[in-house]
Amino acid sequence: MALPALGLDPWSLLGLFLFQLLQLLLPTTTAGGGGQGPMPRVRYYAGDERRALSFFHQKGLQDFDTLLLSGDGNTLYVGAREAILALDIQDPGVPRLKNMIPWPASDRKKSECAFKKKSNETQCFNFIRVLVSYNVTHLYTCGTFAFSPACTFIELQDSYLLPISEDKVMEGKGQSPFDPAHKHTAVLVDGMLYSGTMNNFLGSEPILMRTLGSQPVLKTDNFLRWLHHDASFVAAIPSTQVVYFFFEETASEFDFFERLHTSRVARVCKNDVGGEKLLQKKWTTFLKAQLLCSQPGQLPFNVIRHAVLLPADSPTAPHIYAVFTSQWQVGRTRSSAICAFSLLDIERVFKGKYKELNKETSRWTTYRGPETNPRPGSVSTTPHTEHSLHTHNVHEKTPIMA
Ligand SMILES: *[C@@H]1O[C@H](CO)[C@@H](O)[C@H](O)[C@H]1NC(C)=O
Ligand SMILES: *[C@@H]1O[C@H](CO)[C@@H](O)[C@H](O)[C@H]1NC(C)=O
Repeated sequence: MALPALGLDPWSLLGLFLFQLLQLLLPTTTAGGGGQGPMPRVRYYAGDERRALSFFHQKGLQDFDTLLLSGDGNTLYVGAREAILALDIQDPGVPRLKNMIPWPASDRKKSECAFKKKSNETQCFNFIRVLVSYNVTHLYTCGTFAFSPACTFIELQDSYLLPISEDKVMEGKGQSPFDPAHKHTAVLVDGMLYSGTMNNFLGSEPILMRTLGSQPVLKTDNFLRWLHHDASFVAAIPSTQVVYFFFEETASEFDFFERLHTSRVARVCKNDVGGEKLLQKKWTTFLKAQLLCSQPGQLPFNVIRHAVLLPADSPTAPHIYAVFTSQWQVGRTRSSAICAFSLLDIERVFKGKYKELNKETSRWTTYRGPETNPRPGSVSTTPHTEHSLHTHNVHEKTPIMA
């Protein structure tokens, strides 16, 4: 794994993110073969004086997928395949392994996984997918656990990881995907984990869930189809009262022959406690809207890949920067784009016009009735009652322009 030298400022983190993105976008086979395929505009090699790139690898370890920087910025925790590492990154350019703890999927889960026709060479392992700082003494982590998601707390001592005891491992459905190839996102806010991922073995049931902490566990309602069955989450960003989720799914509100990908922002309220009757343990404040990223004369960039909030800690003019690709391609080249969305615009869109699903025709139409109070899905201090059931499965809003 190559790591750029990390500082604490958001630009370094953005650098890391862009670096990872570059790796994602680089073709894994032949880069630069005859000028075909995407070519990186900037390229640095380890040891290049123009930019400190540091390198860490360890024999037998692979799939370094999850990164978490300690509060003091001195330690980088890394989730890999069947292991979690603590790297000392105090010396720029020289990540040093502090310690590493194994967390393999159990033999039983591995053989069940292979029995269900998944590969024992590439899939039936524990790929670490969630790694967050829970409190001053503990991290919280989840992994695919051979297609049987699991989570556990990891105790820290002087930023060293203490071993995971098997009896402390809990079920992690809805927090980590089953399939390492599926996208996911998770963020810890006020001691609660908000996660967006696939909730079943087949990978056909996306979920947006809140777990841990004192508030009730909440989920999206599968029956009401708030999410298309292929929804793929890429980022979760908390704000003062709400948590935003960024994802991509097939648009079901348009009648096209071709599968049309759409990028979305959804939001749920932090103070949501679920409904009283029909929506017990379900979100009552879920809303989603379309994110548009396009340039005149070009095919729309309709597939969101990642999103970050910048500046992350300032209340003034925060913007979401998101990376998009297109489902279409002209000739041989694939291109990508970054679009910025003002958080205020996103908030405004969630207060604007909305569409409703007509259950008989399965069509989405813009709601033109009288204003309801409270609005469907609004952040309210009292528990939401059942009347919000019909209205809050609101989907499209006026599009946000980049
Ligand atoms: C996977 O299963 C095959 C057949 O059962 C076996 O020969 C092989 O050694 C296994 N590979 C690993 C990595 O366990
Ligand atoms: C942190 O959370 C863990 C897991 O719930 C708990 O055992 C531990 O006591 C907590 N530590 C502090 C300092 O609150």
